[in-house]
Amino acid sequence: MHFQLSEEQQMTRQAARDFAQNELKPGVIERDEHQKFPAEQIKKLGELGFMGMMVSPEYGGSGMDAISYSLVMEELSKVDASASVVVSVNNSLVCYGLEKYGTEEQKQKYLVPLATGQVIGAFCLSEPEAGSDATSQRTTAIDMGDYYLLNGTKNWITNGNSASTYIVMAQTDASKKHHGINALIVEKGMEGFTIGPKENKMGIRGSDTHSLMFTDVKIPKANRIGDEGFGFKFAMATLEGGRIGIASQALGIAAGAYELSVQYAKERQAFGKPLADLQAIQFKLADMATEIDAARLLCHRAAWLKDNGLPYAQAASMAKLFASETAMRTAVEAVQIHGGYGYVKEYHVERLMRDAKITQIYEGTSEIQRIVISRGVLK
Ligand code: CAA
Repeated sequence: MHFQLSEEQQMTRQAARDFAQNELKPGVIERDEHQKFPAEQIKKLGELGFMGMMVSPEYGGSGMDAISYSLVMEELSKVDASASVVVSVNNSLVCYGLEKYGTEEQKQKYLVPLATGQVIGAFCLSEPEAGSDATSQRTTAIDMGDYYLLNGTKNWITNGNSASTYIVMAQTDASKKHHGINALIVEKGMEGFTIGPKENKMGIRGSDTHSLMFTDVKIPKANRIGDEGFGFKFAMATLEGGRIGIASQALGIAAGAYELSVQYAKERQAFGKPLADLQAIQFKLADMATEIDAARLLCHRAAWLKDNGLPYAQAASMAKLFASETAMRTAVEAVQIHGGYGYVKEYHVERLMRDAKITQIYEGTSEIQRIVISRGVLK
């Protein structure tokens, strides 16, 4: 066992760190305030090869490992979690699933533009009445012979308006329960596909979250991913990898809040000395550093298992559970260390605190991660 990153992984991390400082940091407060999607920045991330990081170069990807993906997610999320969620969804929930389970035709048509960053993807599982309880899909895809007729509503869809390619889970045969669900590739602009208004969110306000409505949308059979009824397994399998991405996002939010706190504690004077000389502050920083290190080890272990073709569902859920709780605790403490300054936007930590909360909710709440972990423990 060794804990040393390869030279290539270190270079990738540095590239993401530089990008976050030079391209994401300027304007991050304004994008958050005005709910502005980081379109230019995402385009540049595509040029850097960060939108299809783990996809084979054959399909326009960078052919990197999941550890590198975790490193990039951490660095981007230290500064802008609204941008990093776009990266995570595109890489984990869209590109990964298409490469692993898609047909050659689907890969050429949809994966190549997604992996090169020419277009953005979205993963559409949640519904008004099916969030954590993902098997209860109400969206229907009726088999019409040559095509499926798609009807229903999806909720809380990340990249809802900015995406061009959507992977939509829908029920074809309700009698088969989750074995009757299909994963279908839907294109923006298909007749009967409409996008609802943007959600006005607490955090990750730069990302665009929408509900989607499908009314008699005709989806060619060639757009089904995997065999008939594979949709639920497809969703669960892609979410496993997605949880490494969101765990790394949470880690980045925590690390960003921590780094700002260390810097502030050294600069800010109180009671005639820097805050950092006060044991009350030292203890907070020590706890933050310890939890962040533990979260990073969990993220990297899950990524390593994935890279080595070993089962990683439980490890990914542990990483997500712990990193997201660490993000929340750390960001709250970062605001506390900053005092009144922490409560205003210019110091960034209040945004990190708002952004941290979503990591305990999306791609499975903390409670869902505990279900996955306990099933592994008790099997
Ligand atoms: N890989 C492959 N198959 C899997 C799997 C995995 N990781 N996990 C479960 N399955 C399979 C099971 O083997 C089972 O198949 P069989 O019936 O053939 O044996 C089937 O899926 C059903 O599994 P369960 O019985 O475990 O299903 P459940 O109803 O108990 O639900 C759950 C399990 C873990 C609660 C699941 O529903 C779940 O993960 N819910 C949360 C959904 C979620 O994360 N939503 C996030 C939305 S996406 C998002 O947030 C993206 C974004 O915008 C950022």
